[in-house]
Amino acid sequence: MAEQFDVVIIGAGAAGLMCAATAGYQGQSVLVLDNAKKPGRKILIAGGGKCNFTNTRVEPQHFICDNPHFVKSALARYPSSEFIELVERHGIDIEERDHGQLFCQHSAKDIVDMLLTECDWAGNQIRLRHEILSIQASAKGYLVNTNQGEFQAANLVIATGGLSMPKLGATPFGYQVAEQFGLSMANTRAGLVPFTLHDHDKTKFEPLSGVSLPVVISAENGVSFARDLLFTHRGLSGPAALQISNYWRPGESVSIDYLPQKPVLETLGAMAQSKPKQTLKNALARLLPKRLVETLFDEAQLEIQISQLNKALQAQIEQQVHRFAIRPNATEGYRTAEVTLGGVCTDELSSKTMEAKKAPGLYFIGEVVDVTGWLGGFNFQWAWSSGVACGLAM
Ligand code: FDA
Repeated sequence: MAEQFDVVIIGAGAAGLMCAATAGYQGQSVLVLDNAKKPGRKILIAGGGKCNFTNTRVEPQHFICDNPHFVKSALARYPSSEFIELVERHGIDIEERDHGQLFCQHSAKDIVDMLLTECDWAGNQIRLRHEILSIQASAKGYLVNTNQGEFQAANLVIATGGLSMPKLGATPFGYQVAEQFGLSMANTRAGLVPFTLHDHDKTKFEPLSGVSLPVVISAENGVSFARDLLFTHRGLSGPAALQISNYWRPGESVSIDYLPQKPVLETLGAMAQSKPKQTLKNALARLLPKRLVETLFDEAQLEIQISQLNKALQAQIEQQVHRFAIRPNATEGYRTAEVTLGGVCTDELSSKTMEAKKAPGLYFIGEVVDVTGWLGGFNFQWAWSSGVACGLAM
């Protein structure tokens, strides 16, 4: 005999736990199932163990989705201010960093503990190490068959996340359920992920490994971000590279402005007034990391005095410093990606409740849906907001 619940949620991650607490407070009997040993594993490692749990400024334009309007309803219903209030009610000390990013002062575990406490207060049951063997639609809703028994519920919520970081238990389960019920999918790819370089660029940039500097980085579609870029022994990383990776397609290049808001030729011109014999190398090394300067120009160019720069070299300096174009080889893929772009098509879901239009009682929330946030706490905010939207619908 299958155990009966009003709601079964598969996935004890950010979205699943948030949804469970919300539905429980609505008076629903809720069971959360997960195949992992621990709940909220991605929360625990997020933000270097401090979890960037939301952002002070969350707008629909911070999300990538085939339908840019889809996120509006859930974000309006459960904005970041509500989650901040919840965190503060639980006495968690928080810290605001640049770009409005909010982190735990002590540990990401505080967020997991808070969610588990909320689930406990809401009367939810959470069962881990449950492998889902099959899901079937039935007269009473959905029947979930696991390695530890069968569960029946009128409402089934899929909160199994995306494909990023398989070593943390990411699986394509949610996408398979969507396919089983005839829901279309937007193609998936790794997002918020470092770039790898072609061999010739890798050799050239390897000596820069560890150098970090503020840049403006742009994709071919014109989207750009002002964040820090980090050179690594594999390629390009840091917030700038991760942000633009969401907008990059294989074969495209990215353009980097190494001196945003400081026109290099004007600055060199001013320097030439006071020190005309200064070499290009010494002048640029006052503006940019020396190792970067040595990579961008050849030795002979760097020995030229700044009062002697001809038009061709001036154009090259302008290009190399403000519009440096590089064509990444690939991204590091799901192994290190923070998120998965694509997923269950939003056209298939109600934006108010996350219920599948073709399968009443079946819901998809969090990262499994074709909604991807920028770096900065937006992906967790989507998990909280979509989880609440769904939980309130029960
Ligand atoms: P999530 O992945 O959290 O949960 C899915 C759950 O489903 C897991 O518990 C998993 O075990 C379970 N599951 C999967 N397959 C299953 C199956 N077949 N059967 C049963 N259970 C199954 N975002 C942000 O806003 N700020 C940040 O600081 C970071 N930092 C960060 C760092 C790193 C290293 C990563 C990988 C990701 C981030 N993120 C982030 C992204 C963020 O973690 C992510 O968007 C949310 O966790 C998504 O929440 P979900 O609940 O949708 O999935």
